[in-house]
Amino acid sequence: DKGNYRHFMQKEIYEQPEVIGHTLSRYLNLNKLCTTLPKGTSVDFAALDRLVISACGTAFYAGLIGKYWFEKYARIPVDIDIASEFRYREMPVKAGDLALFISQSGETADTLASLRYCKQQGMRIGAVVNVPESTIAREADVVFPTVAGAEIGVASTKAFTCQLSVLASLAIHAGRARGVLSAEREAELVRMLGEVPAYAVKALKVEKDLEKLSQPLSKSNHALYLGRGTNFPLAMEGALKLKEISYIHAEGYAAGELKHGPIALIDESMPVIVVAPHDEIFEKTVSNVQEVAARGGRVILITDARGAAEAGINAWKTIVMPDVPEIAAPIIHAIPVQLLAYHTAVFMGTDVDQPRNLAKSVTVE
Ligand code: M6R
Repeated sequence: DKGNYRHFMQKEIYEQPEVIGHTLSRYLNLNKLCTTLPKGTSVDFAALDRLVISACGTAFYAGLIGKYWFEKYARIPVDIDIASEFRYREMPVKAGDLALFISQSGETADTLASLRYCKQQGMRIGAVVNVPESTIAREADVVFPTVAGAEIGVASTKAFTCQLSVLASLAIHAGRARGVLSAEREAELVRMLGEVPAYAVKALKVEKDLEKLSQPLSKSNHALYLGRGTNFPLAMEGALKLKEISYIHAEGYAAGELKHGPIALIDESMPVIVVAPHDEIFEKTVSNVQEVAARGGRVILITDARGAAEAGINAWKTIVMPDVPEIAAPIIHAIPVQLLAYHTAVFMGTDVDQPRNLAKSVTVE
């Protein structure tokens, strides 16, 4: 039931504050300000030499953001690959190390095949899944549930932000277990993550601003998404969302890679969506984006108030997001890229919930 929403995708975007809250409640103790693992799960993060992550599509982008977190907060080296490559790569793995598979449906053929490969190699199998009775959940040793509820729209939205919520919590948990984070730092990060549902409510308020961009964006045949750090996977996620529901060709690039090729694409007709809240690497992203603006590219800057004030870019449009702490930023900045793709697709009249050629669950390789 779509309720008062026009599409399941829009409903699912709006469910995010609630389902992120449900998911976080399984991993955070907001009274004691510490992380907790769901009942019955245990992982010895202190003993890990390495973490292997594999997934497809949007779940893979969640994993990429997870890599930044596990490396930064827990100092665990992370190896990540899309499952269709991973399964044939014959990667050397160490028995006993943890392999993490991320999947909304829990039925994706390539992800399942990668899981079975790692299991054969004697690895411990963890799964971040949304469907508890799915094959991937059943075959994993440890299940880290997302509590997104049923996701009907083919374009994944709430499952993605719930996956991010789980990965952020696990990274903090691992950081504490490995002695990288102090109890005080853990408490601080937990408090920040606990605010994500409230930040998400604020983030949804940018919908009208993004809707105004749908008409001009629909006139473009191409779009480029840029970001650095955890905003780089978000750029790829934004491009994937736009491609799959509006059929506009889009690419997500690391902002620093621009001058290694894609800048040749920039002219007055190229919309460039930049995900850049004011963080440690903001200045670096800005200097890349200045090169885009100087070549006439139409910059849509998704940032926060401080970023908007300090960017000094002649942006075509600036979307001002709420101020959020760094650990919350990837989850919150997923929302505007979802809404931009959604409204562009609605404006173009595509079948938003059932885009052509796509299935919700890809059970063949
Ligand atoms: O069910 P899964 O999370 O394993 O699915 C993975 C991808 O097929 C999925 O994320 C796909 O990329 C979405 N349509 C993206 O919106």
